[in-house]
Amino acid sequence: MPVYHYDSYAAVEDIIDNSIDAQARSIKIVVEHQKKDLRIIIADNGIGMNEAILDEALKLGSITDKEEVSDLGKFGMGLCTASISMARKLEVITKENDSECLYSSQDLDEITKRNEFIKVQRKANKAEADLLNNLSGKRGTVVILSNIDRLSDTNTAQFASKLAKDIGRIYRKFIEAGIEFVVNEKKVELVDPLMLGHKDTKIYSDEVYTLPESAVDGKKEKIRVKIVILPEVNAELEKELKMNIRSQGFYILRNNREVASGQTLEVFSKHNDFNRLRAELSFSATLDNEMGVRFSKDGVAPNQAITDFLKQEISGQVTSIRRVMLKDKKAEDSSGVDHAGSEAVIAQKAKLLITPEAEIEKRSLRKGTHDGTAATPKSIKERENFRKVKTSPKGLGARFDTAAMGREGTLYETYQEGKLIVIRWNTDHPFYDRVILVNKSSKDIVSAMDYLIFALASAELKNSNDDNVELMANIKSVMSTNLRALLS
Ligand SMILES: Nc1ncnc2c1ncn2[C@@H]1O[C@H](COP(=O)(O)OP(=O)(O)O)[C@@H](O)[C@H]1O
Ligand SMILES: [Mg+2]
Repeated sequence: MPVYHYDSYAAVEDIIDNSIDAQARSIKIVVEHQKKDLRIIIADNGIGMNEAILDEALKLGSITDKEEVSDLGKFGMGLCTASISMARKLEVITKENDSECLYSSQDLDEITKRNEFIKVQRKANKAEADLLNNLSGKRGTVVILSNIDRLSDTNTAQFASKLAKDIGRIYRKFIEAGIEFVVNEKKVELVDPLMLGHKDTKIYSDEVYTLPESAVDGKKEKIRVKIVILPEVNAELEKELKMNIRSQGFYILRNNREVASGQTLEVFSKHNDFNRLRAELSFSATLDNEMGVRFSKDGVAPNQAITDFLKQEISGQVTSIRRVMLKDKKAEDSSGVDHAGSEAVIAQKAKLLITPEAEIEKRSLRKGTHDGTAATPKSIKERENFRKVKTSPKGLGARFDTAAMGREGTLYETYQEGKLIVIRWNTDHPFYDRVILVNKSSKDIVSAMDYLIFALASAELKNSNDDNVELMANIKSVMSTNLRALLS
């Protein structure tokens, strides 16, 4: 993979980071066609650059001063690498307060043609100075990318609109602090994945954790984790708000700028049950190494010690949250369908079955920090009240439950709870009425259906991982939809 492997969203965002580091209060982005070419302009009203800094800025791996704890830059690679990753030409117009306007450019086609690295740097001409004045005002910087040969979306209108949405989320803390972003003359609205503005969003916990010194090279480092449960909404709104597998999980902020979204951090496994779980993990750039921040700032890979720490501190909370969320939608099972027979047979034959590994649940028993809606002690009590289910010493057991998951919902949901595969029939799916309920007195039919679903569920759990979880969800959704259509 070449070092400049960014997608074009990450590339533009890296250039935006420079504007924020330069104390801009307003950042304007233009994505436009010019003749046959596509160009992207990023203009800010920050402090601008003098000749020396401009000269340095257009070199790869520039060595300008960095204030690591507050800056968004990394490695002095942003400007050049970001532009090379998508455009053949980079131009910079910049002006400090009360200084003259400067111009610098770098053109890959010229470089190839002449076979030497050439960079133009001079006073800006009138057209260039006017452009800066129009977009930035008295001071600031205009970055122009043209001859764009790689854009992550071939449709420029779509590119601009996705870019605006991403910016609204990635820079939400800056928008909150009054920095204005404009994409193609439209003001960017703040997007809060935690939906804290919604009255029914519950803050489950919000804590500053001191990392064990062994995990961070003896440094004293803190991270902050805020976990919320999004409001319970109907399936339609859930779609509209994109409360789905991809968007559930952790949003990671480095120096207040989002560098990753929808992560599991190995604290939980993605599952539809977690669509209402979102969290924000904030850290400072002094933790870049330990958090595995890449220069492109689009992802994290925390080291093992931090991962272990998070598992220990957060996994238990996530398990409790799942219970809270499931309770919200769990149906009273008054249907009198008896699954005990199927559960017993599965336990008895466990050794013969191909099943996922048993999960060892790590739970932390810290108390006093949650808002009472889901404190740990209560969830443990709840756990004790669960129906006792047989498991075999070697293999896993199964527990069958029911829940009203909506007519459009999947036929069943499944997850693992330690040594148990929990399977929840959707009582709203026509299959449940037409096949299970009407046959509840016929044990053979109910068991056969339980086995079928258990077989599907264990295959799903055995093969699921973070990368294919969406695919799995799609297969299940198509299966459930077709079955619904056939039975309706
Ligand atoms: N929009 C801007 N306004 C002012 N200075 C900038 C701007 N963009 C880049 N620079 C200068 O160029 C330098 C190099 O930028 P960059 O290559 O992105 O690396 P980094 O951000 O890691 O320092 C910055 O440190 C800054 O001094
Ligand atoms: Mg930078």
